[in-house]
Amino acid sequence: MSDGSAAAGTVVHVPLGERAYDIHIGPGALAQAGEILKPFAPQGRVAVVADRTVADLHLGALEETLGAAGIRAQTILVPSGESSKSMRILEQVLGALLDLRLERSETVIAFGGGVAGDLAGFAAAILRRGVRCVQIPTTLLSQVDSSVGGKTGINAPQGKNLIGAFHQPASVIADVSLLDSLPERELRSGYAEVVKYGLLGDAAFFEWLEANGAALLAGDAAARTEAIAVSCRAKARIVVEDETEAGNRALLNLGHTFGHALEAATGYSERLLHGEGVAIGMALAFETSRRMGLCAGQDAERAAAHLRACDLKTRLADIPGDLPSAEGLIELMAQDKKASGGKLTFILVRAIGQAFKTQEVDLDVVRAVLSDELTAKDAAA
Ligand code: GLY
Repeated sequence: MSDGSAAAGTVVHVPLGERAYDIHIGPGALAQAGEILKPFAPQGRVAVVADRTVADLHLGALEETLGAAGIRAQTILVPSGESSKSMRILEQVLGALLDLRLERSETVIAFGGGVAGDLAGFAAAILRRGVRCVQIPTTLLSQVDSSVGGKTGINAPQGKNLIGAFHQPASVIADVSLLDSLPERELRSGYAEVVKYGLLGDAAFFEWLEANGAALLAGDAAARTEAIAVSCRAKARIVVEDETEAGNRALLNLGHTFGHALEAATGYSERLLHGEGVAIGMALAFETSRRMGLCAGQDAERAAAHLRACDLKTRLADIPGDLPSAEGLIELMAQDKKASGGKLTFILVRAIGQAFKTQEVDLDVVRAVLSDELTAKDAAA
């Protein structure tokens, strides 16, 4: 799949008409930020909404490239962690941006993982009815998923991501070298979202990941660049076809209906990271598809085997601590914002690389899959 050229970096274009943008991917891409941002900094400054931990590690490098391009960075730090996707922190960020007198022609940079990206993207979407946002994602998860496609938002007491807006970035800069400072568990969790692109629509990419996933996880910059580029191209294709998720964009939620319920059941805590929930969710989606006679058992086994080989969780038994009953988990699924008209939407599969969206799922099958998994978990305890 790779001709080796990706090692030096690559650009994926997202052709969304007036809102088209480029995703710059590669080792050292951060050093290009100054040049890339020049047209977006008419007053010679940008506001940077930065995750505090990321800022400690990488803000200096960002300021250096911006400074070399004559751009001043005015930074607003936000605490690391999901709790920053709250009304309270959003209000603080908006207040700080207004204090900076950021104008509509200016730019907010989101610097961090999915939390900083969603929060800063949403602040940019609603500040003065919308200012430009440039995403500089620093985790694998945000480089392959959340920084691309324009979903922004915060959490509500009623659930995750329930308050938000579609606001496409003006540019995305994904520097794969920044992944070197990512904790191992977070890297693996993000990798689940990479595998997702293979499983949902690209069997050849899945096969490539089976061969190259270990190198990617071990730090191979060319493999990382290639995998992120393929993932972003896949996401761009889907987003261009269905920007606001009226149809096929929902395929990007493969594994998420189960995964979100498991995240809710574990209190969005260290017990289960988002990508870990997605990995288990994808294994359960394949198993549900197999039991419904939609997909071959060997495909379900192959999908789970690769996730396991990359040290990802695939079973409910892999989650520490107690879980709700099968019925309780189904109730949590029903609270997902993707439920429509009271019906649950599932992304199921016909084979590796062939996902589809359906509301025609026999909940007895889902209940049986979950019950069997819970029984296996009890037996393993
Ligand atoms: N993360 C799923 C989407 O962007 O649609």
